[in-house]
Amino acid sequence: MTATLDTPLPPRLQGPGAVGDLAGALEHSPLVPGLLPGTLRRGMGVVHAAEYWARPDRFIRRCIDAPKRFTLDLPGAGTMIGLRDPHDIKQVFTTGASTLTMTSVSRKFFPHAEIFGEDSIIGYEGAQHYSMKRLAAPSMHGKALASYEEAFRLRTEEALARWPYGTAVPFRTMVAPIALEIILTTIVGVTDPARLSVLRERAQDLLKAISTTKFALQTVWATTRGGVWDGNYSDIVAARAALDAVVAAEIRDRRNGNLPDQPDVLQLLLDTRTEDGEAFSDVFLHNTMAGLLIAGFETTATTLGWTANLITREPRVLQRLEDTVDSGDDSYAEAVVTETLRLRPPGVFTFRGVVAPFTFDDGLTLQPGSVLAPMLGPMMRDPDVYDAPEEFRPERFVDERPGTYTWTPFGGGSRRCMGGAFSIAEMRVILATIVRQARFRAVDTPPESIGRANIILIPKENAIVTLDRRTPAARRSAHARPAQTASGITGA
Ligand code: HEM
Repeated sequence: MTATLDTPLPPRLQGPGAVGDLAGALEHSPLVPGLLPGTLRRGMGVVHAAEYWARPDRFIRRCIDAPKRFTLDLPGAGTMIGLRDPHDIKQVFTTGASTLTMTSVSRKFFPHAEIFGEDSIIGYEGAQHYSMKRLAAPSMHGKALASYEEAFRLRTEEALARWPYGTAVPFRTMVAPIALEIILTTIVGVTDPARLSVLRERAQDLLKAISTTKFALQTVWATTRGGVWDGNYSDIVAARAALDAVVAAEIRDRRNGNLPDQPDVLQLLLDTRTEDGEAFSDVFLHNTMAGLLIAGFETTATTLGWTANLITREPRVLQRLEDTVDSGDDSYAEAVVTETLRLRPPGVFTFRGVVAPFTFDDGLTLQPGSVLAPMLGPMMRDPDVYDAPEEFRPERFVDERPGTYTWTPFGGGSRRCMGGAFSIAEMRVILATIVRQARFRAVDTPPESIGRANIILIPKENAIVTLDRRTPAARRSAHARPAQTASGITGA
C-alpha cells in the first residue's frame, strides 16, 4: 500500500527550508508514524522541547519507547519525523542532496554565516559540498591521521604531568584542554610558543562566545521564529575575526617558506589543489579551521568524560582495558570508545530537510518542507537493534566493526562527521596513554545522569573520577594476571 503525505502546504510553508505542518496529514495516513508516547494532544511541542533541553534522559527514553517513525513537534523546528529504524536511517543517509539537504534545516538552528561562514564545508550543499569535502578529507584520514598520533600522545602526557593524582576531579573538564591543544597543534598546526598562546586565547574566546546565556537565548528566539537570525552577534563576529587573524598569520608564514616539521591539517589543505589546479581560498581555510575547532572540541572532550564515567562503573572492563594496554594492544581501548559513543553519543539526533518529494521504501511519501530526524542516540539504545542495549559492553566491537547504519554517532552519508576517524584515533590514544600511567577510580557517587551543554549531552557532574598514579611495578603485576576474554566478560 502506498501513502502520500501530499496535503498541500500553505504557500509560506512551501519550498526548501520551509517548515511543514505535517502532523494533521500524518494522523490521517494509513502508514501513520506514531506520536511520541505521552503526547496527549497537538501542542505538546513545548513539553517535548522543555524535556529535550532540561531532562534529556527522559526525552531519549520517550523516543526509545516511540514507534519506529514518530512525529516530534519542537517549537521553531516545525513538525519533525523522528526515525528509529536503521533501514529508514540508511535510506535517509543514502539519499542525495537534490532530495534531502542539511543546511535547509541547520540554518534554523544556528547562525551559519557568523559562526562557520558560508564558504565552508558545513555551509556548502550538494555538488559543491561533495567535491570540497572529498578534497579536504584526506587531511584527516589514512596516512595523515596516523602521523598525528604521536602528537595526540605527547599532548596527553603533557597534561598528565600536571594532573592532580589522588584527587577527585571532573574528568570532562580536565581532558578538555588536551582536546583543545590537539586541535591547535595538529589541525591549525601552530608550534611557535608565542603564536600558540595567542591562538589558544582566541580559540577559547570563540568557544566562550558561542556558549553564553545571551547566545543561548538568542538561539531559542531565532529558532522559535523558524530561523530568523536578526540578533546582534557582535561578540561571535569579533571572536571569529580575531581567530582568523592568527590563522592568517600562520598561513602567511607557511607561504613564505616556514613549513612545519610535523604534518598538520592546515598544511595539507594548503597543498591541496582542485581538479582545475586551484588552491583553497583563504576564506575557506579560515572557516575550515574555525569549523573544525567548534565541531571537534566539545564532542571529543565530552565522549572521553562519558568513557571515564562508564569504565569506572564496570571493573571488568577497566581491568581488561589495563591488561590490553599494558600488553601493547590498544584495540580494546578503541572498542571502549566505540561502545561509549553507542551508549552516550553527544547528540540525540541529526536532521535532513526534504527539498523534493521523498518516498520511503514502504511507499510513504513526504513533500518538500518536511524535516526528517534520524534518532541516532535512541536507535543505538533500541533492544531491536542491540542485545541488552543499556549495558556497557565494549566486547560488542572487539571482533566486529560497527555497522554503518546501526552505529551512527557521527551521522552518515555525504554529511557524515568529517572528524569521525580523527576523533576515534584521538580518543583511543588519549585513553590508552592515560591508562598506561594512571588507574581510574570511581568516586562513591551514583552513576551520573545525562545533562546538557547546549546541544551536547554531557555527564551531569562532568564525570567525577580520581586518577591514581600507576607505578611500573603495578603495571607489571597487572600484566602478569591472566587476561580476561571477551566471552568471560560478557557471556557473549
Ligand atoms: C566524539 C566526537 C564527535 C562526534 C560524536 C561528532 C558527531 C558529528 C555529527 C553527528 C555530525 C553530523 C553528521 C550528519 O548529520 O550526518 C558531525 C558533523 C561534522 N563534524 Fe563531527 N563529531 C565529533 C568530532 C569531530 C571532530 C574531532 C571534528 C574535526 C576536528 C569534527 C568535524 C565535523 C564536521 C566538519 C562536520 C560537518 C560535516 C559536513 O557537513 O559535511 N567532528 N559530527
